[in-house]
Amino acid sequence: MAARLIHRCTRHLCTSFLTVPAPATATVLTTCRWSTAELYRSPAPLAGVRTSSHRHTPDWPPAAEHSYTCQPERMKVDELIESALSTEELLQISSDHKVTGNQAAALLNRTCRQVVEQKLETQDVLGDSRFQKLLNIVDSQISAVWNGNLVSLLRSLIVMKLAANNRVLRSVENEIHWRLRRLSLKNLTSLADYYTSYAQTDGQKVLLSDVIKNVELRWTEIADAKTVAILMTKLGHLSGALMDRLEDKGLELAESFTPDDTRKVALALAMQNRRSIPLLRALSYHFMQKHGDLKTGVLIDMAFAYGKLNFQQTQVFQRLAAELLPRVPELTPIDVMRCTKSFAYLKWLNLPLFEALAQYVLEHCDQMTGVQLCNIIMAFARLNYQPTIGDAFYAKIHEKLSSALMEMNPFLLVDLVWSLCILQQVNPFYLSQVLDRHFFQRLTEGTQTQKGVNYKLKLIHVNTTAQLECSDYSGPYLPTDCLDSWTSVTKKPSPLGSGVREALQTVLGGQAKCRCGVETVYGWVIGKLAFVAREFPNYTSRSRDLLGRFAMARRHLQAAGFLIVDVPYYDWLELKSEWQKVAYLKDKMSKAIAEEMAQ
Ligand SMILES: *[C@@H]1O[C@H](CO)[C@@H](O)[C@H](O)[C@H]1NC(C)=O
Ligand SMILES: *[C@@H]1O[C@H](CO)[C@@H](O)[C@H](O)[C@H]1NC(C)=O
Ligand SMILES: *[C@@H]1O[C@H](CO)[C@@H](O)[C@H](O)[C@H]1NC(C)=O
Ligand SMILES: *[C@@H]1O[C@H](CO)[C@@H](O)[C@H](O)[C@H]1NC(C)=O
Repeated sequence: MAARLIHRCTRHLCTSFLTVPAPATATVLTTCRWSTAELYRSPAPLAGVRTSSHRHTPDWPPAAEHSYTCQPERMKVDELIESALSTEELLQISSDHKVTGNQAAALLNRTCRQVVEQKLETQDVLGDSRFQKLLNIVDSQISAVWNGNLVSLLRSLIVMKLAANNRVLRSVENEIHWRLRRLSLKNLTSLADYYTSYAQTDGQKVLLSDVIKNVELRWTEIADAKTVAILMTKLGHLSGALMDRLEDKGLELAESFTPDDTRKVALALAMQNRRSIPLLRALSYHFMQKHGDLKTGVLIDMAFAYGKLNFQQTQVFQRLAAELLPRVPELTPIDVMRCTKSFAYLKWLNLPLFEALAQYVLEHCDQMTGVQLCNIIMAFARLNYQPTIGDAFYAKIHEKLSSALMEMNPFLLVDLVWSLCILQQVNPFYLSQVLDRHFFQRLTEGTQTQKGVNYKLKLIHVNTTAQLECSDYSGPYLPTDCLDSWTSVTKKPSPLGSGVREALQTVLGGQAKCRCGVETVYGWVIGKLAFVAREFPNYTSRSRDLLGRFAMARRHLQAAGFLIVDVPYYDWLELKSEWQKVAYLKDKMSKAIAEEMAQ
């Protein structure tokens, strides 16, 4: 043990010299790096030392490979490794022949691939004495294993689920740690690819953070889109500085991104909430130039990423929707949910696509979970989308969901009932669930957060629906005093809203006759008559249809006896002078009153 430790320390000392590119150090190294026993076992290392003084040599040197390939026995073993077809054949090679550290690494790598491909039990293979022998060979000759093999080897050991404190695993990690600066960027990237989600112990986290530091220093070496995509996905969230660099690189290499790279980068941006407009624009542009088949996963993930980042790009959505449409019947329930949600986030109502999605839900309702169905209803409500197969669709939904309500997460339940209110599909059963005193008290207790405020407001909207739109509902209701304590937050009016208010005051002749920004008892803010400023974000994308919640607000105010005068942004922004604005409002008012009289 002590001898081993000394050997280790010596090796560590040597490696710390390795980056000094002086010829003299190489001589020192040859004398200290390998023990006689090791020299005896492997003829390659001397050559290895020679190049190890260069930084970033891709792998162990050609000279080493040359002397190595001259050995007939070795070539034979290599051929055997190449041609072996099963785990058994692979493991047997080490029993029948003498194998080097590199060959053992290759054997472990191949064996591991077999285990994954054949879905074998890792325990069975780990228990095989020949496998253990390979581990020992690698361990004892680790300094002679080439960089690329070493990086592949670590991956294999992780896939084989070796314990984090396994001696050989730690030895491989240490060796990689010492060589970090000499690994090629490709090797570092492979390492980052699998090690980020794996690193668990303190030592492993130190290695990971050194990997990140190395990539941060060497980002200029990045030369291809795939590397950008992998590093953004695996390391971007761990280093903001690196992510900035990767975005620059992404922009530089945008043209060479495959759809799959684009998907990875878009997802990485979405996960990290980085709305990098120039990069998203460049990716979108080049994505539109690429023709040929796109994988369904690419389409769904792109829609998700653009939705999450709220990045509106009409041409890309049109393409995504058009390509997804014929594939809807083959999607999995989870993909259908993600797809519906993403387009709803984007406020993008593509009717043919939504009809196909609704049809899918009708046909596959039984395979879908309560959470998936809730999310779809919420998405439909956001866009105020009513499927043409409405009755059959909702019958199926109610049948499936009514049994699931009891176990549902309370916040999700409020979202669901609120969404059904928007879609005018709610019934007394749902209403009584969330307006029940015990339920809403539990939900709203001690919640002063924005989330709490939002849910209280939703409950008030549900109460209003119960009151105004469900004549067959007989309670329970929210107590009236909730209204004051729950809706005390006053919002500053938007520029459009205050513009409308100023003009209104002119029309009505002074503040006295008009109250603005009134919180109605229904939880909707209005400026009575009910003038409602309709802003751009209140509409579905590229249309004059209101989003679901605003459509419901309008219905409620109407049902409560208000005369609604909509002031949409697309009219208001056309009006330049004060005079025009006043005239517009007067005209709108008299029209609304005339319509009311006619009824
Ligand atoms: C290890 O196996 C992987 C596939 O699992 C392969 O891509 C890689 O090239 C192998 N590495 C070496 C060094 O043989
Ligand atoms: C390691 O880097 C070398 C040189 O770039 C490359 O040939 C090899 O495929 C890489 N191996 C891995 C696993 O990254
Ligand atoms: C809920 O509705 C009932 C019945 O109309 C009403 O009396 C009560 O004030 C409402 N509660 C709130 C908080 O709006
Ligand atoms: C329209 O959207 C804006 C921004 O999201 C919001 O502040 C405003 O309350 C909405 N308007 C109406 C009438 O609800």
